[in-house]
Amino acid sequence: MNPFKFPARMILPFKPTLLCLAISAAAVNLLPAQTTNPIPLLQIKADQVTAKVSPTLYGLMTEEINYSYEGGLYGELIHNRTFKSDAIQQNLKPDAYDPAQNYPASYHANVAPKFWQGVGGAVLVLDTNTPLNDALNVSLKLDASTASKAAPAGVANNGYWGIPVQPKTAYQVSFFAKAAPGFTGPLTASIESTNGTVLASAEISGVTGEWQRFEATLKTKRVKPSKENVFKLTAAAPGTIWLQAVSLFPPTYKNRPNGDRVDISQLLADAQPKFLRFPGGNYVEGNDFVNRFNWKQMIGPVEQRPGHRSCWGYWSTDGFGLPEFLGWCQDIGMEPVLAVFAGYTLNGNHVTNGPALEPYVQEALEEIEYVTGDATTKWGAQRVKDGYPNPFPLHYVEIGNEDLFDKSHSYDGRFAQFYDAIKAKYPQLKIISTTGVKSRVADLNDEHYYESEEAMEGQSFMYDKRDRSVPTKIFVGEWATRVGSPTPNMAGALGDAAWMCCLERNADIVMMHCYAPLFVNVSKLSGADRSMQWPSDLIGYDALTSYGSPSYYAQKLFSLHQGDAVLATSVENLPVRTVPAGRGGGTRQIKSLFYSATRDRDSGKVTVKIVNTADIPQPVTIEISGVKSVTSKGTAIVLQAKNHNETNSLKDPKHVVPETEKVKGLGTSFTRTFPPCSITVLELNAK
Ligand code: AHR
Repeated sequence: MNPFKFPARMILPFKPTLLCLAISAAAVNLLPAQTTNPIPLLQIKADQVTAKVSPTLYGLMTEEINYSYEGGLYGELIHNRTFKSDAIQQNLKPDAYDPAQNYPASYHANVAPKFWQGVGGAVLVLDTNTPLNDALNVSLKLDASTASKAAPAGVANNGYWGIPVQPKTAYQVSFFAKAAPGFTGPLTASIESTNGTVLASAEISGVTGEWQRFEATLKTKRVKPSKENVFKLTAAAPGTIWLQAVSLFPPTYKNRPNGDRVDISQLLADAQPKFLRFPGGNYVEGNDFVNRFNWKQMIGPVEQRPGHRSCWGYWSTDGFGLPEFLGWCQDIGMEPVLAVFAGYTLNGNHVTNGPALEPYVQEALEEIEYVTGDATTKWGAQRVKDGYPNPFPLHYVEIGNEDLFDKSHSYDGRFAQFYDAIKAKYPQLKIISTTGVKSRVADLNDEHYYESEEAMEGQSFMYDKRDRSVPTKIFVGEWATRVGSPTPNMAGALGDAAWMCCLERNADIVMMHCYAPLFVNVSKLSGADRSMQWPSDLIGYDALTSYGSPSYYAQKLFSLHQGDAVLATSVENLPVRTVPAGRGGGTRQIKSLFYSATRDRDSGKVTVKIVNTADIPQPVTIEISGVKSVTSKGTAIVLQAKNHNETNSLKDPKHVVPETEKVKGLGTSFTRTFPPCSITVLELNAK
């Protein structure tokens, strides 16, 4: 999909009905059915397993979009720490491009780096004459000739729409610096509120005429949590100073160096995803060859990574590179699903299969070795050096992304070349195609669905009808019900839940799936340098706090509550609702109840999911055969809202969250009324 296009489909949200508003969750089971139609009947055959649920059914998809890593998950608090946001890059055609080369960027003369300001009359300019190294071939030249003890001069950075501060917390500052002869230092690093209160500071001395790395710790006292702050680096004596890789880190998840933000990581860990599809999405392809995901330039010390422009329009320092994706997997307990660059970029350029593609195929093999090799292999040893002693489990490799958009139709040939080379060296790996191929039989094909609520619900029985004789299994590597911005509302969660019932019911052919996009920084939703490029994202945040959308809680419900076997089900009298037909006008009918049933084969527990997308309560009779008994008492976990529009936000992060209740009246046959706009997980104790 063209990354710069906003969604074509944003559907009209439902209006709350009086009935909807009047019904409380507690009262719902006492209500009579709001319909004269026959009560829907769901029959579950607990002794008929139709599929084993793949242990990696639920996962995450990620890429650098909406400030997902920089200004998101990645702990770094400084915006544009390498001063390369203004980089002017070459746009090379594939035949003029050497995959092994770092193409240095150039800069306009006499400009100050983006997202940095002068303090106390200092003058800042990008300087290519005093680079730190080839990767970071520019530095910030700070003319602090007016600096004095009484009036320090230096640089300031506002971070990603604020510098977050928590009480009694240690922040790690690091930077490279050198000075022109005559500077006597020291420098002061500080975090200050925008009204000038110093919240934490440290002095750093020893700046000389040679580049050196400096570190300091900034400790806050009992301050209030806030984000209306800036980071400053100032001199109290006159001089000219060059800076590069200016970094500020808060404590990170599991205290990983160069690690991740704690609150966002915790939201992810709570949902127990089993895999991470990375690094994209469009991000693996890049807008052009110079900006593709070039993993070899995203490993090793962060100050030796050149960075590149994300296809979503902003600069990535690549401090969050290949090792960091792996660290993320390790910390959350996910298995990597590695997408490799496959010789096609979003501007439509491609490398034809054959000798020209071979370097990219070798690069993919080496990337697999980086992930899975032990210390005796070249690239496994590099991973060990980068801080990850143990090889990572890897079962799936995806060749490219959305190659159906490649108008040259070169994918079949490119896929075959990657497939053959990977299977020859790693026969155990399953290879994922991104569109239909004829030359080889892909193990899985990656299907993407971004839909309105009605469209998602309308397609929520489609896999039940899929031809089971097709050998290629399904990976739904990107999907979302796109209703709500920046994050989906309850309509989105309902569409998602209906769809996840479909994915779960069809776990014999659907091996894995993941919602996309995962993250959005909600600080600046529009305008130049906005923080959001794509609305309807699972998790939202600003510099200080984060929240899960109703869709996040729907994901979590499905991920946490599932058995290891899909049970055969049949259904009668499923109710429908009338919705707009789409662009052509008119109306159509779609189902308004969705279901799936799984069983934990050890404990016997049967988990039934029922999604009621209507804005009236709906009764369902549930019959369970193939068991001796089902106890009358069980558990219901219910995510519901008063209407389809209700949502979560930074200000009201827990407006729509699941509630757990003990329920009675269950058995091998019972009728239960499901609240309007609700997703219910029923846990039944079956013997
Ligand atoms: O998720 C946003 C984008 O949608 C992905 O980068 C791309 O694969 C799809 O078109």
